[in-house]
Amino acid sequence: MAKDKPWSGRFTESTDSTVESFSASVDLDRRLYAYDIAGSIAHAKMLAHVNVLTLKECGAIVKGLEAIRSEIEAGQFAWSAELEDVHMNIEARLIDRIGEVGKKLHTGRSRNDQVATDLRLYLRDAIDAVRAAIAGVQHLLLEMAEREAETLVPGFTHMQVAQPITFGHHMLAWFEMLARDADRLQDCRGRVNIMPLGAAALAGTSYPIDREYTAKLLDFDAPAENSLDAVADRDFAIEFVGAAAILMMHLSRFCEEIVLWTSPAFGFVELGDAFCTGSSIMPQKKNPDVAELIRGKSARVNGHVTALLTLMKAQPLAYNRDNQEDKQPVFDSVDTMLASLSVFAGLIGSMQLNREIMLDAARQGFPTATDLADYLVRKGVAFRDAHETVGRIVRRGLDTGRDLSQMKLDELRAFSSVIGDDVYEVLTVEGSVKARDHVGGTAPAQVRKAIARARKRLPPVPGT
Ligand code: ARG
Repeated sequence: MAKDKPWSGRFTESTDSTVESFSASVDLDRRLYAYDIAGSIAHAKMLAHVNVLTLKECGAIVKGLEAIRSEIEAGQFAWSAELEDVHMNIEARLIDRIGEVGKKLHTGRSRNDQVATDLRLYLRDAIDAVRAAIAGVQHLLLEMAEREAETLVPGFTHMQVAQPITFGHHMLAWFEMLARDADRLQDCRGRVNIMPLGAAALAGTSYPIDREYTAKLLDFDAPAENSLDAVADRDFAIEFVGAAAILMMHLSRFCEEIVLWTSPAFGFVELGDAFCTGSSIMPQKKNPDVAELIRGKSARVNGHVTALLTLMKAQPLAYNRDNQEDKQPVFDSVDTMLASLSVFAGLIGSMQLNREIMLDAARQGFPTATDLADYLVRKGVAFRDAHETVGRIVRRGLDTGRDLSQMKLDELRAFSSVIGDDVYEVLTVEGSVKARDHVGGTAPAQVRKAIARARKRLPPVPGT
């Protein structure tokens, strides 16, 4: 005889013990308890609203569910793998607590629309939490950009010195990357915030339900249009994890730069001791492990995108149990993002800049060669010819071990007679950044304007 399962009526044998542990998801999905209870309370209230439950029955169910929430929060709830998942654990406990009336909660509902609803409610909160964490890092970046609006560093392409930039400008590039991440998540939130409840197993239900009513109680924007799609769709989870992977890719790129900058070969930056670790063999080492770990953790979120796409690609409509496997990638993406953002904020907050070394590096590698070419163009030379002439001047600098700004006027004029003594204004790295004085440019004045615009785009720091 089968026993102990809410669905055991048509079964004659008990579940094999290997199947029991194989199919149980409660260890993971118990994390959804608050959303499961909120969804059940709204469902019960809707059933009372349309007279499928009496007000008294609804009241008992709501009270019972609230008591269960307190039990879980007090750590007094006995989760059981035999009851498979968070949904059946809570329902069984409800019946336990309030008796027969508890058996009426599942009227007009299935675990299929229930779990899809829970996951959407969970993700809605997760998106809000991640967006707040992103904004926290963005505020820090703006502070750094403000402080370092005039700090000069080499700008690289191909990791070769390209043109001088301001460190503030560099921080604002990171800011933009995070701004897109926050936007992407917010855009995804719109598609997350659609309510599956009412789809029941797949076809809807024969009770006179009011889905708008439930949606309103749960703050959903609307009920899902199609009952099959409502239970089968996990696009919102894929999108969310996709946005998470892009965010983690950004953090990984920032961390890669931090790893380079802290290498003694660069020496641009020193991280706080609290955010570094030592070596068990080399006493001199101070390693940027935190940055490396964030870079490493981006790999697992990339994996989660692949896992979810693969999970969904061969599923016929409507619900299939495969979907239970969506939890681990989703939960781990949330955890990884929140942990990474939090430690990243600490990491960049601990950064000490070696401004002298940065300035010195900004002067190496003929970083003002483009400025000299632009100067020649302003004096009437065609850009291609100017490029060629400056190339030859650089060659001479390489052969004689000097930067452009260290060459004598006569020496420069030997390459082009249009060069005058005003050329030295453009040959300094300070002059070079100052000249890039347009929207999106690296000039300190533009960095300050960009910061002012960025501040307006950001939500205020929570708690201020
Ligand atoms: N634990 C299941 C999940 O996460 C709940 C839905 C189960 N539905 C079913 N028909 N077996 O997807």
